[in-house]
Order: sequence, then C-alpha cells, then structure tokens
Amino acid sequence: MAILKVTRLGHPVLRKVTAIIPAEELQFPGMQDFIDDMIETMKDYDGVGLAADQVFESKQIAVLEVSENPRYPQKPKVPLTVLVNPRITPLSEDMEDDWEGCLSIPDLRGRVPRYKTIRVQALDRDGNELDFVAEDFHARVIQHEFDHLNGKVYLDRMRDFSTLTFLQEFARYWLRT
Ligand code: NI
Repeated sequence: MAILKVTRLGHPVLRKVTAIIPAEELQFPGMQDFIDDMIETMKDYDGVGLAADQVFESKQIAVLEVSENPRYPQKPKVPLTVLVNPRITPLSEDMEDDWEGCLSIPDLRGRVPRYKTIRVQALDRDGNELDFVAEDFHARVIQHEFDHLNGKVYLDRMRDFSTLTFLQEFARYWLRT
C-alpha cells in the first residue's frame, strides 16, 4: 500500500468529469490495490472522503469514512465505504448550510448548502449494487465527493464567499457559529 499525492486546486484533473468504471475492471488486481491506496491516503491526510481524481485518476471512485477525526470532531460516524459510479437523488428539497474543507484546497473552510437527505446508488469495490439513504453529515460528505467526480469543488456550491476562512481564523472567529 502507498500514500498517494493529493492534487491541489488548479490541476486540470480536478475539473474533468471522471470516467465510469466497467464492473469487470474492479477485478483487475491493480484496481483493488488502487482502492486500498485511496483509503490509506484519506486516513493519512485525516480526510473524511477522497475522490479518485484527487489522486490523479480520472475515474468514478470515491472513498469515505468518518471516525474519530481531528479535522471534523463531534460528527456522526460513517463506516468505511467505497462508492464506484455513484448516482445521487435528493429525497427532499431541504438544504442545510455547514462547514466544509477539502484536501485539494488546503487550509480553507467555508459554509456550503447541501441536500439533507439523498438516495445513493453505486457499486461497491466488488461490483455489488449499493442503494441506501444518507442524511445530514453523511449526505454532505457524499455530495462533496460526488461533485469531485463531476469536476466540481465545494467553492462552486457556496452561496457567496463571505464565510470562506483560513483554518486559524476559523478556530479564532467562527468555531461557535
Ligand atoms: Ni474535497
């Protein structure tokens, strides 16, 4: 396993729509190794999610996990999940604003509106069909990663940039909001 380099904003790969993965391609040994590397990279960077294009592979794979995380304390836990070719459908029009950061946009954080409840359809790393409902922070993380796979970053979703803040100023001025 290996920790991969994470792309930063400005690299064109982050703005490309990623390619759908044929299910049989998941059986290639290199693909399973790559997914393991994505998981290890996400954990090493204290991320709660990582999309393949953030490690220079323009393919529809995202990994996510929320456990004890210093970047996002006191968030509900989400088990380690691998999403291949995900599709999401909002289950209501309800949206909620909350803070997001991104490993590809270091040191910054901003408030982003997201759907509160979504249906998620995808394949898992073995090609099995996944179909589940995600809510609140879980739904937020999936929408963030889904956006990556479609060439978008959270800045594109902000209503405006008035809450965009560096982490040091976040801790000093915004933490209680
Ligand atoms: Ni991100």
